[in-house]
Amino acid sequence: MNNNQIIKDNLDYTLFSWAKQGGLNPINASHAKGSYVYDRDGKKYLDFSSQLMNVNIGHGDQRITEAVAKQMQEVSYVYPGMATDVRGKLGKKIAEITPGNLTKTFFTLGGAEAIENAIKLARIYTGRHKIIAHYRAYHGATYGAASAGGDPRKFAIDSQAMPNVVHVENPYAYRCPWNSSSIEECGERALAHLERVASQQSCSVKCRFMDVSLARCSMRNQPWWSTLSLETNCRV
Ligand SMILES: Cc1ncc(COP(=O)(O)O)c(C=O)c1O
Repeated sequence: MNNNQIIKDNLDYTLFSWAKQGGLNPINASHAKGSYVYDRDGKKYLDFSSQLMNVNIGHGDQRITEAVAKQMQEVSYVYPGMATDVRGKLGKKIAEITPGNLTKTFFTLGGAEAIENAIKLARIYTGRHKIIAHYRAYHGATYGAASAGGDPRKFAIDSQAMPNVVHVENPYAYRCPWNSSSIEECGERALAHLERVASQQSCSVKCRFMDVSLARCSMRNQPWWSTLSLETNCRV
C-alpha cells in the first residue's frame, strides 16, 4: 500500500486522541529500532519520550519479541480469575523492586485504568471520597482520570466530571506559582499550599491516598511532572 493511502485510511477510519481531527498530519511510522522510529520515507526520528514513556527498553528488543511470541504460543488469553506462571512471576518481581510494603500488584490494561482503580481502592479503603490532584497533570482519558487531570482540554466533558476532585498548584520551580527564588522554596510553598487546601476541604493531607511523607519527598526538587510521584503513591 502506498504511503498516502496508509495516511488516508488512518484519517478516514480511525480517531486520533486529544486532537482536532481536521488537518492532522501524523508521522507515517514504518519501523523502529533502539531509540529511533523511522517513517515510510526513511526519515529517522529520535524517540525522546519512548513513545508514551512506555518503550523505555528501546524499540525492537528481541528478548521482548521472543517472550511475546512464546507466551502467545503457550496461552494467549485467560480471564482475570485464572492464575498463570507469568502473572505470579511478574507480581513477585514488582514486589521486589517497589518500595516499602507495596507487595501486591493489580494489573490493568493501561495508565488511565490504573488511576480509576487507584481511586476506587482509596475510596473503599479510607471510606472518604475527595481526591487531591495537580493542575499540571495528566492521568489519562477515561472519565475519572480526566477529571483528576488538570488539562483544560477536558472542559468539553468537564461539566459532567467525576465529583470530589480538588486541584492544587504544582511545585513547578521553573514558573513557580508563588514566585519562589529557589527550587526548595517552591517545594515548601507547594506543600504549604497543599496543606492549606486540604484543611479547607475539612481534611488533612494524611487522609488522602497519598502518604504525607511521600508527598513531602515528591514536592521538593520536582518539575511539573512531579504528579507522577504522587500518582505512583496512589497506586497502592
Ligand atoms: C502520568 C500518566 N498517567 C496516566 C496516563 C494514562 O495512561 P494510558 O494512556 O495508558 O491510559 C499517562 C499517559 O500518558 C500518564 O503520562
